[in-house]
Amino acid sequence: MSLPSPLQTIKHSLFDRHKITVMIKRDDLIHPIISGNKWRKLKYNIEHAKKHGKKGIISFGGAYSNHIHALAFACYQEKLPCLGIIRGESHYANNFTLSWARHWQMKLSFVDRKTYRLRADRNYLNELQAQYPQHLIVPEGGSNSLAILGVTEIIDELNQQAVFDTLLTPVGSGGTLAGLISGDKNQHEIIGIAVLKQGKQSEQEKIDSQENDYLAKEVSSLLPFEATRYNNWQILSNHHLGGYAKFSDEDSQRILTFNQETGINFEPVYSGKMLLALLDLVEQGYFPQKHRIVMLHTGGLQGLGGLHERSIIKNNGWSLPDTAPQS
Ligand SMILES: Cc1ncc(COP(=O)(O)O)c(C=O)c1O
Repeated sequence: MSLPSPLQTIKHSLFDRHKITVMIKRDDLIHPIISGNKWRKLKYNIEHAKKHGKKGIISFGGAYSNHIHALAFACYQEKLPCLGIIRGESHYANNFTLSWARHWQMKLSFVDRKTYRLRADRNYLNELQAQYPQHLIVPEGGSNSLAILGVTEIIDELNQQAVFDTLLTPVGSGGTLAGLISGDKNQHEIIGIAVLKQGKQSEQEKIDSQENDYLAKEVSSLLPFEATRYNNWQILSNHHLGGYAKFSDEDSQRILTFNQETGINFEPVYSGKMLLALLDLVEQGYFPQKHRIVMLHTGGLQGLGGLHERSIIKNNGWSLPDTAPQS
């Protein structure tokens, strides 16, 4: 583990023109496999499982999940058995992400979408726990109170590393943003960039303000009580580029160009969407001169393997991960 992760200033003509400072918290460099927010979210979950003598960990994810990939390796390293409950059919077991997960001895159980939707349902979880009484069940994306605790440590590190005004993070399940809000204690502006389209909202919710926003509600529900009064955060929901893991050739080219200009690898599902949101906001003059912004690089570079395998990205400059082991 390489901690604290470095904070680097990004040199770029756009930022110079707008007279702002942009830094990047390189959590992608924490560990070659358990990188980014994954290490932050898993650290206390693994510690908890070991301390309480758990016989293993169970968690949930899609067939290309960064969380499943990182959890498999973290458990392998700690000699903890683990089970991944995966949305989709069993042929996914040979894809890039899950081949690695199996290589690190994660057991996989494939479920249909209907069953997967129950992943946070109390009755379903009780049944699962009864089936595996000695296992720790960790939610999708790892987002639970132990994960929030791990993420707060990013803020402790940042406070030692720099003075800044705004912190930007991509938002999927919301745990990372919740951890940042909790650790920040209302000091800075925190902006989450939603990488997926908002879930279904009722008509009343659509009329109401951000308080009723689906993702914001999700984040609020993850906050420890004392953090529920903080009002220094928002989620921008117009930068998802079409939905989860969706982006155009032009979007991917913009990310690649930025990667080449700066030497930092952003991928197009999480960190790259945050990056493009930032570039757009800067171009729109969203930030005043002298503003100091920190982007959190949440890792996820293993995801490039699956995107390449499905020909969603081409081998035209992306820093692709090592090929998956053959089963
Ligand atoms: C690489 C990466 N970045 C960001 C996120 C979003 O984090 P969260 O789910 O905590 O909102 C995820 C998803 O877990 C991720 O895999």
